[in-house]
Amino acid sequence: MKSNRNLSRGEGRRLGNVALIAFMLGSLLLLSLIRVRFSPIGKTGEAIKAEEQQEMRKESIKMETLDETAASAAEEETQPKPTDNSGSSGGGVGSVSSTALAAGDEHLSLSKPVCYESSRRSDTCEAAGDVRVQGRIQTIHVGPLEQEWKVKPYCRKHDAFALSHVKEWALRPLPGDAPQCTINSSATAFVLSTGGFTGNLFHDYTDVLIPAFITAHRYAGEVQFLVSSFKSWWTNKYLQIFQQLSKHEVVDIDNDDEVRCYPSVVVGPTFHKELGIDASRTPGSSSMVEFRAMLRGAFGLERATATPSSDRWDIRRRPRLLIISRRSSRRFLNERAMADMAMSLGFDVRVGDPDVSTDVSKFARLVNSADVMVGAHGAGLTNMVFLPAGAVLIQVVPYGGLEWLARGTFKEPSADMQIHYLEYMIQLDETSLSEQYPKDDPVLKDPNSIHKQGWNALKTVYLDKQNVKPHLGRLKNTFMEALKLLPHGQSD
Ligand SMILES: *[C@@H]1O[C@H](CO)[C@@H](O)[C@H](O)[C@H]1NC(C)=O
Repeated sequence: MKSNRNLSRGEGRRLGNVALIAFMLGSLLLLSLIRVRFSPIGKTGEAIKAEEQQEMRKESIKMETLDETAASAAEEETQPKPTDNSGSSGGGVGSVSSTALAAGDEHLSLSKPVCYESSRRSDTCEAAGDVRVQGRIQTIHVGPLEQEWKVKPYCRKHDAFALSHVKEWALRPLPGDAPQCTINSSATAFVLSTGGFTGNLFHDYTDVLIPAFITAHRYAGEVQFLVSSFKSWWTNKYLQIFQQLSKHEVVDIDNDDEVRCYPSVVVGPTFHKELGIDASRTPGSSSMVEFRAMLRGAFGLERATATPSSDRWDIRRRPRLLIISRRSSRRFLNERAMADMAMSLGFDVRVGDPDVSTDVSKFARLVNSADVMVGAHGAGLTNMVFLPAGAVLIQVVPYGGLEWLARGTFKEPSADMQIHYLEYMIQLDETSLSEQYPKDDPVLKDPNSIHKQGWNALKTVYLDKQNVKPHLGRLKNTFMEALKLLPHGQSD
């Protein structure tokens, strides 16, 4: 058990490094590739441009969530860029990226196999009939099927580097000498990949867990997860979630020698938005409310809402404030004083470091016990998914014009999670950058000029090199504002 855990952490870190390098390069490619990819789809120049800008923002959003330093990745910049821009082979093979089927065709009949762009970030194939999965060769034979299809089942469609860690799957017509079934199942097979950026909390939820929920929820457990690029540490970490979504065992499908037969198959989960679900696009109209209820079931979380305990002797009558601690960058330099100040306001204060906690259930319970969660911008804030409804998230935004980043990652998703959102903007006299750079340095005087140098420059300076020391007096106002939003004050 113990060695297992160590292994998990080591692997996670290695993966983190790979992922970091991967998307640093990916971001470089982005500009050059986006135009190539979007131009044939038949949109107006302006629409394409708007989408490009939006995609740039979105792509940037993934980056801040990796907490490693950018130094090693910067060296990789000079490496040759890969030329493969679609992840699919040509030669008359139907492929989602080349046929560019329109998004929105989500309700196509299951009687005919079909692959379609289920969102800007995802391709999805759905087929029914005689479905035979051979995991070793990433092949699914389907009868009947008119043409061959190829797809990468991971929600980072335009991210060449995330996808370079994702195996391509093929759907092929059932040949005359079809492989014999060695296992028959009446469930729907669901092929997805945990390659890509998994290992970072934000990506675990945004790229895999929420999209998997969007796709799998409607099967009410009668779905089997066939996981490509399976990593046991990752799957074990979230096993309780998979068990909520499926009554069947999770299969390490790339290493599977069986011929698994099903009446239907879905290849590739569907993406909606950053850390969120668009309820209007899900057939059972499942939303983040259902997703969060599922999480509470998975991890045994007691509090659906931030209502204080009715037991007058219970410590839970005091609102609990959880400080999300960081160790490497964007550290709170006065964490102790922040905690003391919160206590003086009547909060029951806890400090949690999600990095050291590999036990998801335990950390989820700590977060669920909180009424206010405060932390510097970073992947750790993804833990907001465990907060009870009506709780308050306070995002401390580091110095450097990062409002847009704060907005896309955690501000916008909070409403659908029924969480109040407050922001604390770090000012010049609260950032460690003031000591690292001369007063008139552009880093301090003109953050926009650093933004213009590109993501790497921005990330290195404002995300990797910065620690923060919030003004206790100003932070106190924010904490008091949070207190006012809670039901605790009103119930007495
Ligand atoms: C699976 O089902 C097919 C069709 O009903 C049958 O021919 C085959 O023997 C079954 N295989 C197994 C391993 O149960």
